[in-house]
Parts: sequence; structure tokens; C-alpha cells
Amino acid sequence: MSRHPTIIQGGMGIGISSWRLARAVAQLGQLGVVSGTALDQVLARRLQDGDPGGHMRRGLDHFPFPSMAERVWERYYVPGGKPESQPYLSLPKHSQDSPRELVELCIVANFVEVTLAREGHENPVGINYLEKIQIPHLPSLYGAMLAGVLYVLMGAGIPMKIPGILDRLAQHEPATYTLQVAGAQEGDDTTIAFAPRDFAGCELPPLFRPHFLAIVASNTLAAALQKKANGRVDGFVIEGPTAGGHNAPPRGKLQLNEAGEPIYGERDTVDLGRLRELGLPFWLAGGCGSAEKLREALAAGAAGVQVGTAFAFCAESGLREDYKQALLKKAMRGQATVFTDPVASPTSFPFKVARLEGTLSEQEDYLARPRVCDVGYLREAYRTAEGTIDYRCAGEPVTVYVSKQGKTEDTAGRKCLCNALLANIGHPQARGGKYAEKGLVTSGDDLSKISYFLPPGKSAYTAADVIAKLLNG
Ligand SMILES: Cc1cc2nc3c(=O)[nH]c(=O)nc-3n(C[C@H](O)[C@H](O)[C@H](O)COP(=O)(O)O)c2cc1C
Repeated sequence: MSRHPTIIQGGMGIGISSWRLARAVAQLGQLGVVSGTALDQVLARRLQDGDPGGHMRRGLDHFPFPSMAERVWERYYVPGGKPESQPYLSLPKHSQDSPRELVELCIVANFVEVTLAREGHENPVGINYLEKIQIPHLPSLYGAMLAGVLYVLMGAGIPMKIPGILDRLAQHEPATYTLQVAGAQEGDDTTIAFAPRDFAGCELPPLFRPHFLAIVASNTLAAALQKKANGRVDGFVIEGPTAGGHNAPPRGKLQLNEAGEPIYGERDTVDLGRLRELGLPFWLAGGCGSAEKLREALAAGAAGVQVGTAFAFCAESGLREDYKQALLKKAMRGQATVFTDPVASPTSFPFKVARLEGTLSEQEDYLARPRVCDVGYLREAYRTAEGTIDYRCAGEPVTVYVSKQGKTEDTAGRKCLCNALLANIGHPQARGGKYAEKGLVTSGDDLSKISYFLPPGKSAYTAADVIAKLLNG
């Protein structure tokens, strides 16, 4: 490809940057990026909701190995949708030896999301993953590549070994990924393996090897990736601490301001001069959702900007309509606030939270939630006393976490992002008819500015409104 896009609509998980949003952006000639996080859960739940609009069925019909697509359909589709009070099926959790059923679901779900985002236009579409959610990477990437994804973007970790995996999967060759295991000892087997041909129903020609963009918060890390990654890195998204979602922690010892938010300083600013010297395209992210910021980025040598918050609240995003409207109203009244929570995420990365009544941003809603961990993407692998690998999440019941060598102090204030983020997109888990999971909305500091995208007299705006403002002011 000769030209990269100027605007990247950032990947926003779970399901906020759904196929619908990415397609809307791609149709306008900018890079639409679907979130690749937890797509297996998202597809299974959409099917259990009766597949409104028949979109999942349409995506499944394109899958190159029809019997696998049919198995997914048969297992999860509920005609007319399950009753609201009935829980969604519990999927097996990802582990070093995930069951075949889960691996298949992952391949198919990533395929469907990218396929739908690519429908009706010829422009590139990307997919975003968090490096920290390591176990589903191999089948997820393969599914997205089967659907012709053109860009893979990955942050929240150091994706040194992803470029080489893309090279192998493009040839349908087996690939491995090393799982980070707390307390691992030399000789432990921490490998996750995936062989596409064990799943492919027929021989296929080589796939396109997507461009790989690493999302980083420092030029040192960008340089290390360029030098040491096991394959080609095609560019960088440089994300600052005002961006929505997870943020890189500040350098050095964590210090909090009076409100309890991490303090970022001089050492956290990226040296753009050094970055330019790497000679690879880069995009700036974090508070870059305006024509002025785009101009500044281009003047600084960037290929463009990556924008999240402005797109998260547009009509095509996957965010629940009631949350979207409530936060838009707050923004219009100048009352929208975002808190950078240093402990909410079980990953222990700072996580930005928009304050919204009736969600887990509110202490009483957080305390009223039964502490359960039944989705498990953010679980950390650790070595047991017997030398095997087990998994724990700082958001799970404290006694369970402690019984897995976890520290009590690491559980304080942790929130179950898996369940909350699924609730944000209208798939809340129901618990015994007594409790339905509540959401927790993440947003960048630019939340206060989203009403700027509203056309005069309107109470909603579209992805096209965002792009027009970015390009034309
Ligand atoms: C709702 C939301 C969810 C996000 N989820 C992810 C994610 O899953 N992976 C990721 O790499 N970045 C995520 N981000 C960050 C965006 O991709 C993007 O880099 C960021 O939003 C840019 O800054 P801005 O919010 O100031 O526009 C998220 C941002 C938002 C607002």
C-alpha cells in the first residue's frame, strides 16, 4: 500500500468499535478499526440475543470453512433471543489448552467482525488487540486475516513477537506465543501453540500479511520494537495519557494527585525528534480529536492521528444508547467528568472512567455487585506450587484470589471490566433473576468536548460528523 490513512478510528473494546463503526469510518476513506477484544463472547451473545438484523448470519455465510461456522451457529443461536432475565451461556475460559470449541469460536468471531466491517466498500479495515490478553491472539489473528484485515494494531503490552506471527499465519503455518506466567521457572512450558491447518477445512492460498502498528507511549519502546521485534513493524501509534481506555502508567514511582489520579510528568513526554529518526510512519493519539490537533500532528511529521473518544459516542458506536445519550447530555451541560483510576483495571494499568450514575463508576453500584469472575480475559497466568499453570484475576472474590498466591492489597478497588464492558454494549450477564451486570464507561479526557460534534439542533452525531470536523474544522 502506498498511502496510509490520515485518521485512524482507534480500536475500542469491548465492542465499542464494532463492525458498524469501523465500516462507517472505512467507507469515508479513513481507517476503521474493529476491537478484537473478547469477540468470541460478543458473537456468542449476539447470537443468543437472536442475531437482530441477521448480520452475524450474513458474516458466517462468508466463512471459508462452512461446517465450523455451522457449529458456532448451532451452539449459540437462540431464535427470537433469550429472555432478558436468563443468563447467557458461560463460555469456557481461555487457557494454555483452550478447548477446540473456544478456539473455533475465536477464529469465526474475528472473521465475522472484519468481514462485516469490510462490506460495501474497498477501503482498508484494521483490528485492535491488547497484548496483555495473550491467550486468544493466535486464533483471533488468523480469523481476522482470513477476512482480509489490512492493519493489526496492538498496545497494552510489548508486542515483540506479533510481527513474526503475522508472517507465519499468512502462510497458514503453525505459530507459537509465549505466555507471561508469574513466577515461571526455567524449563516451564509457557508456550501457546496454534496450527491453522488443524482447523482449516481446505487448502487456501496465502493470506495478506497485515501492516502491523504498535501502540506505545514512548519513543524508546518504539525504537526497541523496530530493532528487536521478530518481524516487520510498519509504524506506531503514540498514545498519551489523556487517551480513553487503558493508559500506560507514568514512568518511575507511581504518584497520585489529590483526586487520586496518577501524575504524569516530563519523563512521560515522547521525544518526537527521536521518533522521526526511526523513519516509520506514526500517528498521535490522546486528545487529538480536532482539526487543530490534526494539523499540529501533521506539522510534527506524523502521518495523522488516532482518535477514540469522539467516535465512542457517535451514532454507529456499539455503546448502549442510554449511556451514550446520558454522557452526551452531561457533556452539553459541562458536567462530564473522567477519572483516571489507578486500580480499577485488573491489569493494573491506569484505566479512564467516565462518571455516570447507575454504572460501576459509582461506589454504591460497585459495592452492590456480587464479586464474580466468570468471563476471565484479564486473568493472569501464574505458576502453582505444583509447577503447573493456573489463572487468577485481581477482580475475582478476594478469598479465591488469595488462595491462588494473590495479595489481598492487589484486590482493593478492582472492577470486573469483562462483565462491565459487555454490559456497556447491551449484553449484560443476568444473575439468577436478581442482578444484571452494570456497565463502566471508559472515555478520554476529551469527553467534555464531544458535544462539539453535534450538528446544530441535533441530539446525536455520526462518524461522518467527526471526520468532517477533523478534516475541515
Ligand atoms: C471507549 C474506549 C475504549 C478503548 N479501548 C481500547 C482498546 O480496547 N484497545 C486500545 O488499544 N485502545 C483503546 N482505546 C484507546 C483508543 O483506541 C484511542 O487510542 C484513544 O481513545 C485516543 O485518544 P482519545 O480518546 O483522546 O481520542 C479506547 C478508547 C476509548 C474511548
